[in-house]
Amino acid sequence: MWTGRRVVLGVSGGIACYKSCTLARRLTEAGAQVDVILTRGAAEFVRPLTFEALTGRPALGSLWEPGGALSHIRLGQQADLVLVAPATAHLIARMAQGLADDLLTTLLLASTAPVLLAPAMNDEMFAHLQTRANLERLRARGVSVVGPDVGALAEGPSERPGRMSEPETILAHAARAVRGRGPFSGRRVVVTAGPTRESIDPVRVVTNRSSGKMGYRVAEAAWERGADVVLVSGPVALPAPVGVRLRRVETTRELEDAVREELPETDVLVMAAAPADFRPSDPSDRKRARVDGALAIPMEPTDDILGATRGLRKQGSITVGFALETGDALAKGRAKLERKDLDLIVVNDALEPGAGFEVDTNRVALLGRDGAARILPLQTKREVAEAILDAVELSLGR
Ligand SMILES: Cc1cc2nc3c(=O)[nH]c(=O)nc-3n(C[C@H](O)[C@H](O)[C@H](O)COP(=O)(O)O)c2cc1C
Repeated sequence: MWTGRRVVLGVSGGIACYKSCTLARRLTEAGAQVDVILTRGAAEFVRPLTFEALTGRPALGSLWEPGGALSHIRLGQQADLVLVAPATAHLIARMAQGLADDLLTTLLLASTAPVLLAPAMNDEMFAHLQTRANLERLRARGVSVVGPDVGALAEGPSERPGRMSEPETILAHAARAVRGRGPFSGRRVVVTAGPTRESIDPVRVVTNRSSGKMGYRVAEAAWERGADVVLVSGPVALPAPVGVRLRRVETTRELEDAVREELPETDVLVMAAAPADFRPSDPSDRKRARVDGALAIPMEPTDDILGATRGLRKQGSITVGFALETGDALAKGRAKLERKDLDLIVVNDALEPGAGFEVDTNRVALLGRDGAARILPLQTKREVAEAILDAVELSLGR
């Protein structure tokens, strides 16, 4: 998403400046044009040369350098985002007052781009009523803020907020600050992901190979687009995406209960989970002993979640299903779309190389209500997630 975007990275004088180097690097690698502006304090911590080497562009500090203020104010006006990380107590105070006593604060006043601050300071400084009031004032003006987190500070351990958020978290918020004002803004999106697990006995389960990757990427991308996202996840080994509310479930019944609870307030439901279709009908409460010869475990069907919750859908909401098939995927997907009253179905064939469970890529077709099929090339699951949300966005905009 960063390709061709312009980011001004403002760096003020806190010890967390060293993490700004990672931010500059990551944004540049992702394709952004990054212009770094340091306060005088920041230049005491990290030399501008470091940022120049990382971004391939001059890092700026003074309002008074030849060519200075005017061209750099233009940078602020052309930017897609002004990210200030770290934002010191002093910088936050200057912004709240509307001061323009150096290049960064002057640019911040002259820019109409979205602004994201990553405060970083001693925990007492952050708790100070003046700092709180300054941040509130900035928030009221539409400035976004990420963190600070609780954790170790340069001066020692702390159990109160003050530490700058990690670069990964800041980058996710930066993406949302840039992209989050479109049709998904303020919408409630519920995504289900991963497998479910059904007990055979207290130690054994029936499950499937779903890794959850597809649903997690959809949740992440929807949050970046400004949605309020709930991710209902079966047992997977993935970290929670930044910003989303994670509800962990284990069985198909728990998954259905969570969907039931969320559905009345949901604008977009994306059912990327792979719930078990069958469960042992009589799970044992003791571990089953080993037997010689064949073992038969009687199974019963689980509820069809989309069918059972259809009546709870909010009017005008959009429902996206997935069909993972092994052969004849398009025809089976089309039938499922109709049977389950879906707006969109994402169809893939588990037998195709690079598609389906466990891998990081997917090759899918998107089928809409109108019967048209869009066959997408082999892409990363993140790219597939974006394509799915593009298709949903068309309906949301209507
Ligand atoms: C070693 C050292 C570490 C500092 N760390 C922070 C910090 O993490 N957060 C902060 O708000 N101020 C910190 N300060 C104080 C700021 O550098 C000081 O308030 C300065 O005026 C900030 O100016 P600036 O916001 O224009 O960069 C630190 C100062 C020193 C000497």
